[in-house]
Amino acid sequence: MKTPRTIIVGITGGIAAYKAVNIVRAFVLNGDSVHVIATPAALRFVGKPTLEAISRNPVHTDLYEGVAEVRHVAIGQGADLIVVAPATANSIAKIAAGLADDLLGNTILASTAPLVIAPAMHTEMWNNPATVANVAVLRSRGITIVGPGVGRLTGTDSGAGRMEEPETIVAVALAVLDRVASAGEQSREAVASAGQDLTGRRVLISAGGTREPLDPVRFLGNRSSGKQGVALVQAALARGASVTLIAANLEVAVPTSVTTILVSSAVEMHEAMTLAADSAEVVIMAAAVADYRPKTVQLGKIKKADAGDTLTLELVKNPDILAGLAASRKPGQLIIGFAAETETDADRLLALGRDKISRKGCDFLVVNRVGHTSGATEGFGTERNTVTVLDRHGVIVNEASGSKMSVANCILDLIR
Ligand code: C5P
Repeated sequence: MKTPRTIIVGITGGIAAYKAVNIVRAFVLNGDSVHVIATPAALRFVGKPTLEAISRNPVHTDLYEGVAEVRHVAIGQGADLIVVAPATANSIAKIAAGLADDLLGNTILASTAPLVIAPAMHTEMWNNPATVANVAVLRSRGITIVGPGVGRLTGTDSGAGRMEEPETIVAVALAVLDRVASAGEQSREAVASAGQDLTGRRVLISAGGTREPLDPVRFLGNRSSGKQGVALVQAALARGASVTLIAANLEVAVPTSVTTILVSSAVEMHEAMTLAADSAEVVIMAAAVADYRPKTVQLGKIKKADAGDTLTLELVKNPDILAGLAASRKPGQLIIGFAAETETDADRLLALGRDKISRKGCDFLVVNRVGHTSGATEGFGTERNTVTVLDRHGVIVNEASGSKMSVANCILDLIR
């Protein structure tokens, strides 16, 4: 059983505070110990009993309660991670200035734990030069900013400033914790500030599985859920990258704060990737792309009566997106591909990987086993993954086994 980590969820006074309940819930269900510090303004949006019931701990607000135990220092020192969600423009300004006029501000100042901030405010406030400067200060200190997304705001308006979805905030926060944990307890502070090692790097990621239409209602597809690709997106966001996602039929939620282009077939993905790769420094092809597509797409539904007892489909080859991007790479561009294989023998699996990287011409190839063996599923659709990373000479440069988030971080470590 894993040791529970202590996560502080700071909630400040914005309407998105009601969604913070789901963030607290997700951490608790993940087995972490959660302490909520809500500002008085936050408690005007969401009730203390709700937060106490969901976090399973008392909720603190007041700096002048429990003075004898020096609560802000005790809570701050014991934290493994602090997540502020939603973070209003006011709270961001206070954190940037190092103000400590409430329990949350004091706790943040008294802690060396990594800090993840999920801004939520109206577009005008987000774009205000004061907020822009404050956010830049936070980033420069290694603080992870997740979101905001673009979407519906409180009223009838929409734009940038919507808090990132709780699911993504939790995933990004866990990605930050994961990196801190893998770096060892002693270097926690160092990792927290080095956590933004991909700041400003333009990373293009494809995720999901393509669908090749047969007729208006049917397609040829595969079992990729997009979980590994989306974990890569979340891990890259957590490390400060600017991410573009080309998403094919994902079964998981897409973060709202990345540029996302939805595609369905391999041909659509080819077009979107080729265009987006123009401005990318790093390209990661995590999507499962169909090698072939039906030669013709029937205008009407294929009828049993017309086909008879057997139906033969004629397929034509799809463009190999990865090989194409590698062949036309921009100077300095790093290209990473995946090889999902059903081969069970470890040596033969590696041989397939080595053969593939020489054909594809990419810089690194992430080899993973997929499929069903004795009732268990590997790779596709699962929460965990086991991968071996090969370089262009076929040499093993990294191996990882664990959550898709930890595998994602191991892949992102290839970016220099
Ligand atoms: O050839 P194979 O499909 O096994 O190669 C896997 C790698 O190539 C993955 O990174 C996948 O995203 C990419 N691929 C591609 N275009 C295709 C087929 C696969 O980019 N048509």
